[in-house]
Amino acid sequence: MEVVTTDVLVIGCGAAGLRAAIEAAEQSVDVLLVTKGRIGAAATPMAEGGVNAAIDPRDSWEKHFEDTVRAGAFLNEQHLVEVLVKEIPSRIYELEEWGAVFSRRSDGLIAQRRFGKQSFPRTCFASDRTGHEIFTVLLSQALRTGIEIIENCFVSKLLVAEGRVWGAVAWRLRGWTPVLIRAKAVVLATGGAGQLYEITTTPIESTGDGIALALEAGAEVMDMEMFQFHPTGAVWPPPIRGLLITEAARGEGGILVNKLGERFMKRYAPREMELAARDVVARAIWREVREGRGTEHGGVYLDLRHVPCDVIRTRLSSTYRWLLRYGIDLCREPVEVSPTAHYIMGGVRIGPWGETSVKGLFAAGEVSAGVHGANRVGGNSLAECLVFGARSGLAAARYAREHGYAPVDRGAVEAEVRRIEGFEGKGSVDPEDVRAELRSIMWRYVGVVRSGAGLGQALKEVLRLREMARLMRVEPVNTYAVENLRLLETLNMLRVAELMIRAAIARDESRGAHYREDRPQRDDSKWLRHIVFRLDGGVLRQYLAPVTITRLPPRGAGA
Ligand code: FUM
Repeated sequence: MEVVTTDVLVIGCGAAGLRAAIEAAEQSVDVLLVTKGRIGAAATPMAEGGVNAAIDPRDSWEKHFEDTVRAGAFLNEQHLVEVLVKEIPSRIYELEEWGAVFSRRSDGLIAQRRFGKQSFPRTCFASDRTGHEIFTVLLSQALRTGIEIIENCFVSKLLVAEGRVWGAVAWRLRGWTPVLIRAKAVVLATGGAGQLYEITTTPIESTGDGIALALEAGAEVMDMEMFQFHPTGAVWPPPIRGLLITEAARGEGGILVNKLGERFMKRYAPREMELAARDVVARAIWREVREGRGTEHGGVYLDLRHVPCDVIRTRLSSTYRWLLRYGIDLCREPVEVSPTAHYIMGGVRIGPWGETSVKGLFAAGEVSAGVHGANRVGGNSLAECLVFGARSGLAAARYAREHGYAPVDRGAVEAEVRRIEGFEGKGSVDPEDVRAELRSIMWRYVGVVRSGAGLGQALKEVLRLREMARLMRVEPVNTYAVENLRLLETLNMLRVAELMIRAAIARDESRGAHYREDRPQRDDSKWLRHIVFRLDGGVLRQYLAPVTITRLPPRGAGA
């Protein structure tokens, strides 16, 4: 069996993983970055609208903090939010030093626009290709530091002994051969889980792998009921169903109207209108459609015809161009939109250095939980990846310097290889069927608006699918093992779905992105708490943990 040894193993190659790898490499330790797809196949390059930082003298980290916590409906770990908002300006300037080109104001400073729930326009951007710009710069910086990268390699298990991670078992997609990776520290940066839903903005890689890996490794996972639906995914024509129409379109002045021509947000958020928090706008659209005021394709109109066309062409350049390819000219006509699965706020529970409850295991970016609470502000995701990517890379490098390699547990490695090879040629169930059914269940019952009855049904069906999944089968391969990859991803998706549904059932209130029509009120007396999961000797434990409030206590629902 191939064996690779490194000081720090980083899993995932989006902004969080790259930023972690850069920081760790700068501490003069060996860094190996492993990614299941090709470099570039991550959510970061797809991020459009921007990254938040209080860099204008009229703005402040305190305002950024307050906006983040209010949007998160007070479920945020406030000590993590404080780290985020204080450190992100330096991370932005550092990107500029490394070569990032942001859009500029006429006085030469970095341009910023307003996203939802912001008290100040603080979203820095590079037209509507911000993620792509940041990704390219991080990748070239990472390559300069001399880190090693293995693409097309799927981590199926984190190896843990006595509460400490000591490596991972991974599978090279070409030939499906196992690799034992020995590491002193591991950073999980595997992104989110948007592929659990039928309609999503996320790349095919977003299958919740890191959350499932961390849970299996014994780490705590929390806030899994909190999944964000971006209000404006494209609805029509069918090939672009679900694709992100950036919030920047509303930030630049776009308005939402129903089929009657009403600017309906005045009924739901008369002050903030289209720039209310994402959960509020998503529910408003959902309601308009459900009550019969939607378009013939089940959406509403996002209209920018009143915005000067040169603004659309320069500040929303990619959106403008790709919609044009599908026959929609944003300067002349509205585009039909409706909510689309976008981002999971839940994930691996972390401390301020990305540390998890497993020694030597760190997590950063969308795979982690705590920063965004019950609802993320647009533009805070790239910010989180940069800040906590750097922090977890630094902490992992320090940990690696202070600890030697743990001894190899051959039995654990062999058991994992046997588990994976056990799917070859034996069962009768096609993994694609399981995945398709799961995505449909999640979309139907665990969406923008939920109910106790629907969630109960979802849990029953997902547990049935988990049983069925034991019989999933792939043919033995000696070329490129996409089917094997999809099978293991599907197992992870099922595990993540189960956690999401169990948490959503338990939280019998509405808060942020978790809206229960049978429990529409927020209940701070009972639910200012995280729902936490942990595997204990193979048994799933579920318990509550208090929210850390350092600066801003809630003042009643809606405060
Ligand atoms: O709408 C957007 O451009 C998305 C940004 C984000 O989710 O942070």
